[in-house]
Amino acid sequence: MRLDPLRYLDDELTSLREQGLYRRLRVLDDEQKAHASVDHRAVVNLSSNNYLGLTTHPLLRERAADAIQRFGVGSGSVRTIAGTMEIHVELERKLAEFKRTEAAVVFQSGFTANAGTVSSILGKDDFIVSDELNHASIIDGARLSRATIKVFPHRDVAAARTIVEALPRDRRRLIITDGVFSMDGDLGPLPALCDLADELGCIMMVDDAHASGVFGRHGRGTVDHFGMHGRVDVQVGTLSKAIGSLGGYVAGSRALIDFLQHRARPFLFSTSHPPSVAASCLAAIAVLETEPALIDRLWENTRFFKAGLEALGFNTGNSQSPITPVIVGEAATAMTLSDRLFEEGVFAQGIGFPTVAQGKARVRTIVTATHTREELAFALDCFAKVGRELSVIRDS
Ligand SMILES: Cc1ncc(COP(=O)(O)O)c(C=O)c1O
Repeated sequence: MRLDPLRYLDDELTSLREQGLYRRLRVLDDEQKAHASVDHRAVVNLSSNNYLGLTTHPLLRERAADAIQRFGVGSGSVRTIAGTMEIHVELERKLAEFKRTEAAVVFQSGFTANAGTVSSILGKDDFIVSDELNHASIIDGARLSRATIKVFPHRDVAAARTIVEALPRDRRRLIITDGVFSMDGDLGPLPALCDLADELGCIMMVDDAHASGVFGRHGRGTVDHFGMHGRVDVQVGTLSKAIGSLGGYVAGSRALIDFLQHRARPFLFSTSHPPSVAASCLAAIAVLETEPALIDRLWENTRFFKAGLEALGFNTGNSQSPITPVIVGEAATAMTLSDRLFEEGVFAQGIGFPTVAQGKARVRTIVTATHTREELAFALDCFAKVGRELSVIRDS
């Protein structure tokens, strides 16, 4: 009889269960919205990245449906063979305009945009200087590049400077940061890192996955928010969060984009977006330009909810964005807090190691433009009740 060569996975899963890190996937029964039905329970949804509610926006639906009727459901090929449709090119033109760069290229996801870019623009003789909390897709891209990876403590520009100063000037050196850090909601120190990159001749790259549609004029991201146009060589964004659809992109110089179209492996070796996805992204960019009130509402809700959590005594870290972590320490506490909140009618995912450091487990909350005040007030009441029950906060 053949022994199962994968049986060691059972031990790994048992270990995850023992550490309180085993996760059962929650399933949406209906649309991705601020008030949703998850596992057949009506909940206030504080877990999605649907910052502006665009997953269900009428214009995006309409344009996606039209594109299916006109162009079919799939692109049928990778971009470099037969999978480049006019609508992909139009989307790239609009993204470049939106980000105020010469050109842009779309990838299948934000993950492949980061990993495909970092791994193709650098090689084994180069150096990558990376914030310790940068997204996994940056880390994987850095590993794939075979460049030497130097990690600096979170947001510590002085430490980044010490690292860069010690590197050989005749090598390519990339400084890379998230624009908004996805688990903490704080911002990368973009102006100071751009100064460092300018002074020491480094390539500057930012991953604005959580900033596009949220920060800057009409949601142009942290580069716009900090007035850093022309000083960030590589801007990555996602179409899967505030934009409400799916995909990622890189915006930068024409040469950068041309190079990525020749060398970035996800662009070369994975089929391009269905036309309906590209159409919905184009509609989303139009919405960002024509409905700025959505972004205003996102920020009003963010201020309201964040102030509420802080007033209750939760540890919300240093967030400056609609992502507000409720940091509790142990993974088991975070998972219990999340489960109890769910029972009360609030969906806020518990997050533990390895997504965040050991001892920094949390429940992560994200408000959106489409939450009502009543929904957010209800969520705060639930946090108060369950937080006291689990002694995460004290009775006031
Ligand atoms: C900071 C950051 N970068 C990149 C990504 C990847 O984006 P996508 O979901 O479009 O692959 C994410 C999403 O989880 C993210 O949080």
